[in-house]
Amino acid sequence: MPIQAAEGIHWVGALDPDLRVFDVLMAAPHGTTYNAYLVRGSEKTVLIETVKSGFEDQLFAHLDQLMDPYEIDYLVVNHCEPDHSGALAAVLERCGEPQVVCSKSAKLMVKNLLNRDVAPLTVGTGDSLDLGGKTLQFIPAPFLHWPDTMFTYVPEDQALFPCDFLGAHFCDERMFNDLVEDYSFEYEYYFNVIMRPFKSHVLKALEELDQREVCLVGPSHGPMLRKGICDYLEKYRQWAGALPGAQSDRLLVLYASSYGNTRKLAEEIAHGAEAVGARVSLLDLAGADVGALLNDLEACGGLAVGSLTLNGDAVKPVWDLLSSLATLNLRGKAAAAFGSYGWSGEAPKMISRRLGDLKMKVVGDPVTCTLAPTEENLQAARELGTELAAAMDL
Ligand code: FEO
Repeated sequence: MPIQAAEGIHWVGALDPDLRVFDVLMAAPHGTTYNAYLVRGSEKTVLIETVKSGFEDQLFAHLDQLMDPYEIDYLVVNHCEPDHSGALAAVLERCGEPQVVCSKSAKLMVKNLLNRDVAPLTVGTGDSLDLGGKTLQFIPAPFLHWPDTMFTYVPEDQALFPCDFLGAHFCDERMFNDLVEDYSFEYEYYFNVIMRPFKSHVLKALEELDQREVCLVGPSHGPMLRKGICDYLEKYRQWAGALPGAQSDRLLVLYASSYGNTRKLAEEIAHGAEAVGARVSLLDLAGADVGALLNDLEACGGLAVGSLTLNGDAVKPVWDLLSSLATLNLRGKAAAAFGSYGWSGEAPKMISRRLGDLKMKVVGDPVTCTLAPTEENLQAARELGTELAAAMDL
């Protein structure tokens, strides 16, 4: 059933209660929803968002209960990620090719999604569409979380459609935040995985929203918000407020070491950095909870990562750390790699490349040693620590 959210505004999206992993990497123990909204003015009708491919039947069934889909005039694409745009081609066909409306950054993405040009109407700050008694206003929100993202706002209903922003992977057919069970854990988890790398953009968007009254939020995943909206905004403000750089004199030295040789290099890096005034935290990654380190990683001024080499690779705890860094903004932080090895020594080079790919400021070449470090190796590690500290904002 479509769900009325306000006079002339209906949720017409799809439920995916069986989803357990979203986008390969996100746990989704409560499934998710792909939200789309039908907004009807006296003159024009708009569909905001589509759904993931494979879920279009739910969307079409909802539309059919409300109107002839051929009467939809505009299709607003707030964001091109395929969980919202996967059904774009099918929706355009079923709805008689309504005019696509999107941000300038989305125009090429729409073409690439469809492999044809539908000549979208591109909109930006200050642009609006008059539907007759309802207006759509467009708010660019780049990097929340793709460059194409925009919000759509209906001032007559004080209704905001911010795509992934303020969303959560949580499926409950009751669909309103005051009717479903507490999903605060999923709300925070969604922020941490999707929005966290873009904290400054989150704060900018919140400032923009401060200028508007919002009585209804229709995100693209999870429940619609109609009660306590300020609390949801405040949570974002709080989580985004802990900006990186807060502990710019702190160096994290994280390592995995089978027989203590990589650990000895780690200790000497720490000594070298401490000698010139850095505060150092040394941590063995074996058995560490990487998730618990994220705030420290984001706040620190520098990071050194070490691994032994096993079967030509870094070991799993190190890769767990390195893969989790994708959700953080570490750009420009000082970084270095190190590690002891038996004969080939690939791990430190892999780590160094990964840190560079994350746009960190990689200092020097990796410090390595074959099996037990010599005094020269230890001296090189101390010097690397000193170089790292010099590259930090002490
Ligand atoms: Fe829900 Fe960024 O897509």
